[in-house]
Amino acid sequence: MSTKLIRRVSLAAVVLLSAACASVQSKGAPPPSLYARLGGYEALAAVTDDILARELKDSVIAPFFKGLEPADMQRIRQHLLDQLCAATGGPCFYPGKPMKAVHAEMEITTDIWNTFTRHIAETLDAFKVPDRERNELAAIVNSMKADIVTKP
Ligand code: HEM
Repeated sequence: MSTKLIRRVSLAAVVLLSAACASVQSKGAPPPSLYARLGGYEALAAVTDDILARELKDSVIAPFFKGLEPADMQRIRQHLLDQLCAATGGPCFYPGKPMKAVHAEMEITTDIWNTFTRHIAETLDAFKVPDRERNELAAIVNSMKADIVTKP
């Protein structure tokens, strides 16, 4: 390539790059993720612990977790947190099994589901999560219902 041609190509690249940058800048920064609006990892960890504590105190839900070792509970807690973090746009990866496979043998009914999700709502009350974030979180949770509820 001649020196003249190299100069022209470089100039064209600079012009294109500037146009691309200007276009990105004019659109501004992306809106904060649900993860960020909920307060990030530590906030989600506190929410996860609060939900689990409520579930394990409930006489309908607790029997499902009966007989699990502390190490199992630790894994479930971490996986719940990873899942929540990843699904809300946080920097996490959920390494657990798909929801359908995890809950397949549990025969979870709509009533049991409603009890479980009522506790999630109580947690969000306790943490004073605003309506917009609650609704977005509810949509994420509800998107899993068909895989978890296997009995009418
Ligand atoms: C919002 C709804 C729910 C979500 C997001 C959810 C999520 C999870 C996650 C992430 C795990 C850990 C999976 C793994 O370690 O691979 C898990 C395990 C478990 N879930 Fe759920 N779950 C939900 C509803 C329920 C309900 C309604 C019940 C029953 C009352 C239930 C009972 C269990 C049990 C017993 C385990 C432990 C399974 C085992 O490791 O032996 N879950 N769930």
